[in-house]
Amino acid sequence: MTACSVDFEPVGRRGGCQKKESLLACARQLGVGISSICNGKGICHSCKVQVLSGTVSKPTPSELETFSPQELKAGWRLACQTYPRSNVKVHVPAESMTTPQRLQVEGQEVTVSPQASVRAYPLKLAIPSLEAPQADADNLLQTLNQKHKLNCNKVDIGALRLLSNQLRSWKWQCQAAVRNYQVIALLPPKSHPLGLAIDLGTTKIAGYLMNLNDGKTLAAKGVMNPQISHGEDIISRINGAVHSAEEQAQIQKLAAEAISQLGADLCAEVGANIEEIVEAVVVGNTAMHHLLLGLPVRQLALAPFIPAVSRALDIKARNLGLDFAPGAYVHLLPNLAGFVGADHVAMLLATGVGQKKGPIVALDIGTNTEVSLIHEGKIVTTSCASGPAFEGGHIKYGMRAAEGAIERLQITGDKIQYQTIGEAPAVGICGSGILDALAQLYLAKAVDEGGRLNADHPRVRTYQKKREFILVSKEERNGQPAITITQKDIRELQLAKGAIRSGIQALMEASGVSEKEIKQVIIAGAFGTYINVASAIEIGMLPSLPLARFLQAGNAAGMGAKLALISLKQRAQARALTSRVRYIELASAPDFEQTFMQASYLGQYRIINGRREKIN
Ligand code: FES
Repeated sequence: MTACSVDFEPVGRRGGCQKKESLLACARQLGVGISSICNGKGICHSCKVQVLSGTVSKPTPSELETFSPQELKAGWRLACQTYPRSNVKVHVPAESMTTPQRLQVEGQEVTVSPQASVRAYPLKLAIPSLEAPQADADNLLQTLNQKHKLNCNKVDIGALRLLSNQLRSWKWQCQAAVRNYQVIALLPPKSHPLGLAIDLGTTKIAGYLMNLNDGKTLAAKGVMNPQISHGEDIISRINGAVHSAEEQAQIQKLAAEAISQLGADLCAEVGANIEEIVEAVVVGNTAMHHLLLGLPVRQLALAPFIPAVSRALDIKARNLGLDFAPGAYVHLLPNLAGFVGADHVAMLLATGVGQKKGPIVALDIGTNTEVSLIHEGKIVTTSCASGPAFEGGHIKYGMRAAEGAIERLQITGDKIQYQTIGEAPAVGICGSGILDALAQLYLAKAVDEGGRLNADHPRVRTYQKKREFILVSKEERNGQPAITITQKDIRELQLAKGAIRSGIQALMEASGVSEKEIKQVIIAGAFGTYINVASAIEIGMLPSLPLARFLQAGNAAGMGAKLALISLKQRAQARALTSRVRYIELASAPDFEQTFMQASYLGQYRIINGRREKIN
């Protein structure tokens, strides 16, 4: 018999739960994927949730150990230890979700009041006759200006080519989409003007279809970037584009076609037509931006890494090969530097850090990690070449976050507990699992602070003359080769995390800010959102600060693109933010090499004057 109703946010799933069932059990029944490495024993702490309303059972000893009194007061609990006593509302933070569920938090709702660059005006036109044979475009402009007190005097040529047939098929009723006193498209009488926000990532493209009238997100979807066929990383694609004009044109076309297809799919989901998209905003790193626009990229890869253009741009979508409304525009937010693009600007915009006093560190971790430090009105930014290790690249059993990837992991003595995506048999390890693994190896003393594997640990073996740590044995895999972390993998991870920590360190030094003064660390992006921050601190990738100072912000670049799509005010803010940024080149930062060397050590420490001071 159902005793209580449990409402899980932000996935928006609700259902009945018996009083003897834990929140974890209830979540499982409802298909809400909450991470549970220890399978409900109360020891892994991976099932953290926040009870927002309603009454639940008293905290168990393991919860009293896990949470501070303030955290318990704020409703933080372990889902496997907590039982509902009334109807409850529960927030599942991104880091507690299993991977398939995580995709659902990417399209968070925008909350600014809409003030889009395009407005749609409903019109009913006089039907022309022999007595009043006015041209269709003149008829449209006259009615539009009279009825809505405007001063439009132009119709886009693409819109003009369709206008006569559209007016007749819609029986002289329509909506005129107007941008900067120009009619850029006619829309069916009862449709919404649609906008498309795009986060053009090197690996993935995220798209959000929005109603420009009310600023609501209608549909969201992520697809793989087909440019991968010209190289997984940005440098290979730049090399391809530099190699021949033909290849550059192919790379451009692939991105444009993928964006058009994404727009068409999202429109189909809501019963609309791609030609109802009247405006788009695209954010991406500087190389993705240049490749989409067909701009030269050779100089991006050579010191001093100069972009062809930094300022914000408005370009007719058709000039990029995008199949939107005939006169639709694409707005591109400004870039900051050769390796810090509009996606970072969008992230700064979405997280609202520009208005805060700081000191705040905001970073987006990827193959290239962009970091900003915001302090007393100033923004200092850098980019670090963190490489593909945290995306599973260059790691023996590394893989993307897909079914069968180990995503969470815990070592107790010589025992390993892990959780895989889709609860499928383990086939490899993805970014969040790799980070956990390194932290757990260090805590279990299977690896020392210099990153050397300890031959005395029962799970460390020498295989083909190389040392490696066995995560999943051959026996556990029914005779398939063991899944391991090799000494070489650990070196790759040290380089990746050392680059990120050196970037943060360089910005702190450039701003005269000490680690203790940092009020908040915002981690954005697909990888950063789902990492276990405690693991990232344990390996020295992030500064050793209280966990409450870290915020995992999700796809903030996509969120920033959405804001810029629906609000001209937000576009102006993005430009203002950009003008406050000082970019520093990491390699030229004082003591960089010394700092980088120290930052590649594992453990919790501070770096002061290029020297490492251990904490604990
Ligand atoms: S599943 Fe709840 S603590 Fe491990």
